[in-house]
Amino acid sequence: MKITILTLFPELFESFLKTSIIGRVVQEGIVDVECVQIRDFALDKYKHVDDKPFGGGAGMVMKYQPVLDALDSVKKDNSYTLLMSPQGKVYNQNKAKELAQKEHIILLCGHYEGLDARITKHVDEEISIGDYVLTGGELAAMVIMDSLMRLVKGSINAASLEEESFEDGLLEYPQYTQPADYKGDKVPSILLSGHHANIKAYRHKQRLLQTKKKRPDLIAQYTLSIEEKKKLEEEEDEE
Ligand code: ADE
Repeated sequence: MKITILTLFPELFESFLKTSIIGRVVQEGIVDVECVQIRDFALDKYKHVDDKPFGGGAGMVMKYQPVLDALDSVKKDNSYTLLMSPQGKVYNQNKAKELAQKEHIILLCGHYEGLDARITKHVDEEISIGDYVLTGGELAAMVIMDSLMRLVKGSINAASLEEESFEDGLLEYPQYTQPADYKGDKVPSILLSGHHANIKAYRHKQRLLQTKKKRPDLIAQYTLSIEEKKKLEEEEDEE
């Protein structure tokens, strides 16, 4: 997979692309990441990339020409272009999985008050990372890159992806590590029992309970099996 980022601030991506799991994915060439400076495509002497909006109004708008030329310079037949925008469809794990299958993703980051609207004709999709407004698309691009790069084959252990939050519509079970008792606060004893089947059943029940408690919206969408309904009811009886 290749990811191309179009931005006015490539330096923002430097430590992100060198650190931890993402750093290794880049280092090992599992994902090839390229940052393209939009300003390099400005035509005037002062390399202007923004201007006042036609019709008046506050703030500056990113100009169509440098953005379109930057995009055209990297776009290929197998490219999928995403525009980072608070007006886009809200990103989620399913979208991350879908994007992880693409050969080439272009992430276009706007800045200032936004981009000249004509650019939207040239992108496949507008994506928002949530209902709030950022100063630019760079953080959104990093969120998207992080979530999809970890899904690309070879980046992290497939087993750790299987039971994680959202994978099947449920949150992850709670995890514990040493010490088993700290200041009297103990790890659930079943996890120390070595009984794999019981541990598996316990963890699944915890996933159901955590999701019901923390994300009632997710549990409402989830189709509970008869067995799972029973487990939740047992817990309600105990409360
Ligand atoms: N640019 C500004 N705000 C944004 C958001 N919420 N998501 C994606 N890109 C953005």
